[in-house]
Amino acid sequence: MTKAGLRSKDLLGIEPLDPSEIELILDTAESMAEIGKREIKKVPALRGRMVVNLFFEASTRTRFSFETAEKWLSADTLNFAAKGTSVEKGESLLDTAKNLEAMSPDFLVIRHSSPGVPHFLASRLKTRVINAGDGAHEHPTQALLDAMTIRQRKGKFDGLKVAIVGDIAHSRVVRSNIWCLTKLNAKVTLCAPPTLMPVDIESMGVGVTSDFEEALDGADVVMMLRVQIERGGKMAFPSSREYFARYGLTRERLRLARPDAIVMHPGPMNRGVEISSEIADDADRSVILSQVANGVAVRMAILYLLAGGSPQAWQEKA
Ligand code: CP
Repeated sequence: MTKAGLRSKDLLGIEPLDPSEIELILDTAESMAEIGKREIKKVPALRGRMVVNLFFEASTRTRFSFETAEKWLSADTLNFAAKGTSVEKGESLLDTAKNLEAMSPDFLVIRHSSPGVPHFLASRLKTRVINAGDGAHEHPTQALLDAMTIRQRKGKFDGLKVAIVGDIAHSRVVRSNIWCLTKLNAKVTLCAPPTLMPVDIESMGVGVTSDFEEALDGADVVMMLRVQIERGGKMAFPSSREYFARYGLTRERLRLARPDAIVMHPGPMNRGVEISSEIADDADRSVILSQVANGVAVRMAILYLLAGGSPQAWQEKA
């Protein structure tokens, strides 16, 4: 990577990034966040560039924040959802992507239920590919917006105690966050029922426990994860009521964390399953909507840097 931008043409995951690349994205996102506070939320940075948003899985936050980021940067956008396209007639993923590439987009943002799909396309297309979530593998833009939110609230990563709690087994968010936070020297502890904890995950450099109270003890950041019903998460415990009794974040449990601990959740939330509404909506502790707002800035930064923009040039123009 050079100071001028990111070295790779694609953003496929956090694993291949080094800490200085992560910090470059976070610094650029901080300078981009200001656009959202302007009356006219538009700058010409990506004028004449086209982005295809290719979503094969449901999404609210990622899809609409990419689209917002693209519009604020003046890019043209094509939004692709499998329903209503020739995917329904059996057209393959690669044929679909190659036909869209024939329309000369500059970026392809892809979400897919199969791990590795963004990597598969990136190796076969000239277009820049951004991973918007691939199965249970990675969700790099989520981890970056989470890191931006943590840095804003805590001012550092070094030695920060981060507890990540919930359906670890099915979560792409957790894998990207482990890569991101450990590269930035935070201390990560994972907590889940044994049935939702992958074997050998401690080899990624994290602590592991099935005891929620132990994970919360002294935590600076409590990141709750959704039980992923669509990936079989609910079959790993007897009932939602029982899950909430053991692993739901309540006011009482949160007292075990540091008094200034922040509560995060990537969304969508299962209220009353992994988190109580009282905590989710607590403006003093919950930063869940700040995560969403930062998602736009992070995605603007990634599009801008992958297009070859330099943070210095951005700041001079802004
Ligand atoms: N956090 C996240 O990826 O949410 P969506 O599935 O709504 O995009």
